Amino acid sequence: MRHIFSRLKPALTYILIIILLLAGIFLAVRFLRFGFELRPWEETEETGGEGQEETFGERQEESGGPEETDGEWMTDEETESCPGPAEGGEIGEEPETAPEAEEESPPDLMLASDLHYLNPSLHDDGPAFWKMVEEDDGKPSQYSEEMTDALLAEAARKRPDALILSGDLTHNGERQNHLELAEKLRKLQEEGVTVLVIPGNHDIQNPIASAYFGEERQSAANLKSGEEFYEIYREFGYDDAVSRDEASLSYVYALDDDHWVMMLDSCQYKDRNHVGGRIGEETLSWMEDQLKLAAEQGISVLPVAHHNLLSESRMYKTECTLENNQEVISLLEQYRIPLYVSGHLHAQRIKKHKEEPGMEDGEYGITEIVLGPYSIPPCEYGYLSWDEEDRLSFQVEEADVAAVAAAAGSQDETLLCFGREGTELVRSNVRRKLEQAHFPVSEEMAELMETLYANLYVDYCAGFPIDRRAVTSTRGYGLWMRAAPDSRYVREMEEMMLDTEVSHRQWSQQQEKLSEEEEPAAEPAE
Ligand SMILES: [Fe+2]
Repeated sequence: MRHIFSRLKPALTYILIIILLLAGIFLAVRFLRFGFELRPWEETEETGGEGQEETFGERQEESGGPEETDGEWMTDEETESCPGPAEGGEIGEEPETAPEAEEESPPDLMLASDLHYLNPSLHDDGPAFWKMVEEDDGKPSQYSEEMTDALLAEAARKRPDALILSGDLTHNGERQNHLELAEKLRKLQEEGVTVLVIPGNHDIQNPIASAYFGEERQSAANLKSGEEFYEIYREFGYDDAVSRDEASLSYVYALDDDHWVMMLDSCQYKDRNHVGGRIGEETLSWMEDQLKLAAEQGISVLPVAHHNLLSESRMYKTECTLENNQEVISLLEQYRIPLYVSGHLHAQRIKKHKEEPGMEDGEYGITEIVLGPYSIPPCEYGYLSWDEEDRLSFQVEEADVAAVAAAAGSQDETLLCFGREGTELVRSNVRRKLEQAHFPVSEEMAELMETLYANLYVDYCAGFPIDRRAVTSTRGYGLWMRAAPDSRYVREMEEMMLDTEVSHRQWSQQQEKLSEEEEPAAEPAE
């Protein structure tokens, strides 16, 4: 054995020398190409980062799936523990992309609706204020200031081409709330983010504009007319508009040479305040002129209004859809407008208009995205962008209220854990409202029933899919069936389940199937 090794020794030495020479050549070539700056983790870090983001995105959407827990029913997201406040979040801090880079790419937008902003100077945290919160639709108005600041901080960080607010800017149209909100928007605009607004039904001529001090609600000054709204918000779209409608607070804003936003005032406030919406005759005619002009110039138009274009909800049936929606649909479809954005409903929805029930999915019909209520946690907004082929894509994103509160030095534990505690505030507000119904069951059973309804409500507002089978197999649902099968709450739960079988949180514009007249002629057979 030793003999064999001594004979192989010179050969092994030669092999070792060759390996060392090759390694030397490799390092020399690498140095000449990259110098000493390139570190191996720089390559892997970037790849790893993208991978993580992708997985997180998928997980977030999947988290809409229901999961049964001890007879209750909650989404995965809601069972997550508090992640603690994130870094940064202050207005103007760490923009995600440099403004220079944005100029060349198609525009992207942040869209939020129904802020229902309530400035703390309009309440004293006393009985009248808490009575209002308890009787309201779940909004934790005690955190309105922080929630609104979080949205604006998000806009300052993301730097979209515009932040669009589609009405119900204020709690109930209080003048003070309008002025305070406009001041916040002004600061954001000074940071370089364009803000575009339109009114919602709560914003003008609202008879219940209120302040909350002591035991009883007090009347507060409201806005008397559209002109007063314009005076407060003129720098947020109106004064830079390409065109303004003379009959309403509608206008067209050019995002760039190829993209317009048509901000439509769908509210009725001239005689008195109406909840329902309508696009007036003169406004329809102005819309047609603008759509025609855009079509001639090859400009894409995105209409945004407060009221809904389509019937979107079994739960909220009245005064949501435009009174003359058929006229508006016909006009927009005549110009092949792909998307209409609205709010008002207080539920995140996506729906395509189908002329006839049997219409195929690939055929053209306008799609409506109803933005969920920003004022009801999880405090979400929509992110909409055009790609290089001018196709739109949309997704729901959550503002980081906890981060902004932490950056502002807040010690409030609910705020510092708002990702989880925010929706819990909504649930407890809803549960408290249900307690007034006094169901003939034990306290523990009533709590199970109330919790089930509250969980459904939060997911309904946020547009998560609801699995009917999972819900109806809970103990809470069984109790509802036994204790109050004919109550309005059971009916509402049924409506929520029927409305939200699929997720309403993401959308992308599909390639439309060409109609028969538009189809290219078949190639002649050879
Ligand atoms: Fe609203």
